[in-house]
Amino acid sequence: MERELSLEFVRVTEAAALASGRLMGRGDKEAADQAAVDAMRSVFDTVNISGTVVIGEGEMDEAPMLYIGEQVGSGSDPCVDIAVDPLEGTNLVAKGLPNALSVVAIANRGCFLHAPDIYMDKIAVGPKGRGCIDLDAPVAENLARVAEALKKDLEDMTAIVLDRERHQHIIDETRKAGARVKLISDGDVSAAIAAAIEDTGVDILFGIGGAPEGVIAAAAIKILGGEMQARLAPEDDGDLERIREMGLEDPHKLLLLEDLVSGEDIFFAATGITDGDMLSGVRYRGRTAETHSLVMRGITGTIRNIYATHTLAKKPRFKPEFF
Ligand code: FBP
Repeated sequence: MERELSLEFVRVTEAAALASGRLMGRGDKEAADQAAVDAMRSVFDTVNISGTVVIGEGEMDEAPMLYIGEQVGSGSDPCVDIAVDPLEGTNLVAKGLPNALSVVAIANRGCFLHAPDIYMDKIAVGPKGRGCIDLDAPVAENLARVAEALKKDLEDMTAIVLDRERHQHIIDETRKAGARVKLISDGDVSAAIAAAIEDTGVDILFGIGGAPEGVIAAAAIKILGGEMQARLAPEDDGDLERIREMGLEDPHKLLLLEDLVSGEDIFFAATGITDGDMLSGVRYRGRTAETHSLVMRGITGTIRNIYATHTLAKKPRFKPEFF
């Protein structure tokens, strides 16, 4: 994929963020999500790719747009697979809480794990923690190994965990090991990326979240040089069936980073919707709006922060209600 595509993918996440950010704090997560989906979809078709959505808003019969299998882009080369989460953190936007993002990841055909929208158990760290994590090892062991690699005392380590009852054992074991826990109400894509970037105040991600979010986070972690391991966490026979339908033979397989996203030719782009640890949220200033995005390219490992000012009156593509 040509490097110029970086900016094109940022335009896609910017559009979704600009649209859904308008609905921040309105208490309507469905409307915020729909606005993000509509805007992302409309901009995707201006990008010179033949894209197939492999991680999307749902399956064809349940999602009108950005469904798994949907074709996006102008139809020209290159042929790529696309993972999207137009609004990662629907509750965060509805409640005006931090760390809501719009995010896309793009890779060559067949390079993303085809994960159904079920749960996934995850562990993630940054580059210095590579080779030190094991999803099947006890929490304390992972913490100790990563602390050693980071040259930190255990009491200076921070694990980021979704605040869910299912994670009580992780929270207890982390605290017992002497480390600190940062509990978040939603948004484990941003949490995984924070764990993979030095000096974010977070050293490791543990816990079960969405599988699509896991694949998207894996794209960012791969480019950042970190490590992630995961395992699908089916809750019933229906989930098992969906895993098989996606072509995965062993639903309980330990998934390494290369299983989640293979190859190096990957792009990852995200735009902040609400203020967060890495990205500022959208600022609306009457006729203009400002966005903060991150775009990363796997081949070169370049990470760009992009601050943009958008003149809203000159964006005829968007329906007026978006602004
Ligand atoms: P949505 O944006 O779809 O609401 O997802 C938010 C999220 O917190 C994800 O970041 C996370 O992977 C998943 O939900 C966790 O699911 P659950 O809320 O069921 O524990």
